[in-house]
Amino acid sequence: MKLDRKEILKSLETISVAGEGKNMVESGAVQNVMTFGDEVVVDLVLQTPALHIKKRAEVDVMKAIHEHVEQKAKVKVNIKIESTSKKPEIKGKAIPGISNIIAVASGKGGVGKSTVTANLAVTLSKMGFKVGILDADIYGPSIPMMFDVEASRPLSVNVDGKSKMKPVENYGVKILSIGFFTQPNQAVIWRGPMASKALNQMIFDAAWGELDFLLVDLPPGTGDIHLSIMQSLPVTGSVIVSTPQNVALADAKKGVAMFRQESINVPVLGIIENMAYFTPEELPENKYYIFGREGAKNLAKDIEAPFLGEIPLVQSLRESGDIGRPAAMQESTPLEEAFEEITRGMVQETVNRNQSLPPTEAIKITTMAGCSAVNKK
Ligand SMILES: Nc1ncnc2c1ncn2[C@@H]1O[C@H](COP(=O)(O)OP(=O)(O)OP(=O)(O)O)[C@@H](O)[C@H]1O
Ligand SMILES: [Mg+2]
Repeated sequence: MKLDRKEILKSLETISVAGEGKNMVESGAVQNVMTFGDEVVVDLVLQTPALHIKKRAEVDVMKAIHEHVEQKAKVKVNIKIESTSKKPEIKGKAIPGISNIIAVASGKGGVGKSTVTANLAVTLSKMGFKVGILDADIYGPSIPMMFDVEASRPLSVNVDGKSKMKPVENYGVKILSIGFFTQPNQAVIWRGPMASKALNQMIFDAAWGELDFLLVDLPPGTGDIHLSIMQSLPVTGSVIVSTPQNVALADAKKGVAMFRQESINVPVLGIIENMAYFTPEELPENKYYIFGREGAKNLAKDIEAPFLGEIPLVQSLRESGDIGRPAAMQESTPLEEAFEEITRGMVQETVNRNQSLPPTEAIKITTMAGCSAVNKK
C-alpha cells in the first residue's frame, strides 16, 4: 500500500477549526505530512496546550485519513505548541518594580493556599510573566519546601549603595519566606506589628528586580496579623481558596469580608475551589464529591466575585508539594490544564481590576529615630 500525500492533505481539509471558519490546512495548523508506505506522519502546530484540544486534533486527523484515504493507514500525529496569543499587558504599580501584589488567602487552614500559590507562580512564569512569592505564613511557612529550597538562604546584594536581600530563585520564581530566617521546628510567635515589619523588609529591602506579580501566601485565619499585613502592603487584589464543605466556606466568607472592609479595601479577584472532587489517578473519569459539590462556586455567586476554577484532590498534587516540584510544571496533565485555566482567569481579573479601579494606594514610610512606621496615604 502506498499513500498519497496530496490525498491526505485533502482529507485534512475536511477538518474544521473551531471558531476560525477555516479548515485545519487553511488555518496553518498542518506543518508537514510525510508518508512511508502505509504510514503517515502529520506534524501539527497548535496554539493552545490544552489537553482536550490536542486529543481532539489527533483524533480528527486519524478519522479524516481513515475515512477519506485509507482505513488501514498507520497514522502518527506530532503536535507542537506555539503560542501566538500574546500574554496580556499587565499594568499596575503596586510599588516601584512590582506591578501587582496578589494575596492568596482562605480563612480556614489547610485548604491548599500554599499549594495554589506555588502552582499559580510556576504557571505565571511559564506564561512569560516575571513572578515572585512572598511567603508570609509566620506560623508554618511551606513555600521553601514546595520549591525545594529549604536549605537556601537569601544572599545580600548591593543595590545603589544599599544592602538588600536577594530572593532565592527556583523554577523561574523568586522567593522570600519567613522560613529562611527561622530554624526549622522553631515555633514562631510573632505579634502582628513585628510580623508586618519583617514582611515590609522582605518587600522593600529586597532586590526583587522587575516583577509582574508578587504572590503573597498568607497564614490561615483572619486575625490581627492579616489586618496589619493588608494595611501595610499595597495589595492589588486577593484570591480566596476554599474547599467545598460548609466549614471551609464559612471561613472563606470571613476572609472575603476582611478584604472588603473599608480600612482594607482590597478587591477580591476570584475564588478557587480546591479539592473539588477526588479523582483516582488510574480512573481519571471518576469523580467523587467528598466535600460536597460546587460549594466554592456557589459562594462566588453569593458574594458576587468571579469563580476562577476548580482543582481536584489528587495524590500527585500532594506528592509534588512534598518533593518540592509544583505539579503544574508537569506538561500535558489535567492538573497543568486546571492551573492554566485558573491562572488565565486571575490574570484577566487583574487586568480588569487595573482598568476599572484606581492604582493601588501608595504607601508612605516614615522613619523616626530608628523606628519605622508605615501609613497608607
Ligand atoms: N488538591 C489537592 N490534592 C491533594 N493534596 C492537596 C491538594 N491541595 C492541597 N493538598 C495537600 O494538602 C496539604 C495542605 O495544603 P497547603 O499546605 O497548600 O494548605 P494551606 O492552606 O497553605 O495550609 P496552611 O493553612 O497550613 O497554610 C498539603 O500536604 C498539600 O500537599
Ligand atoms: Mg500554607
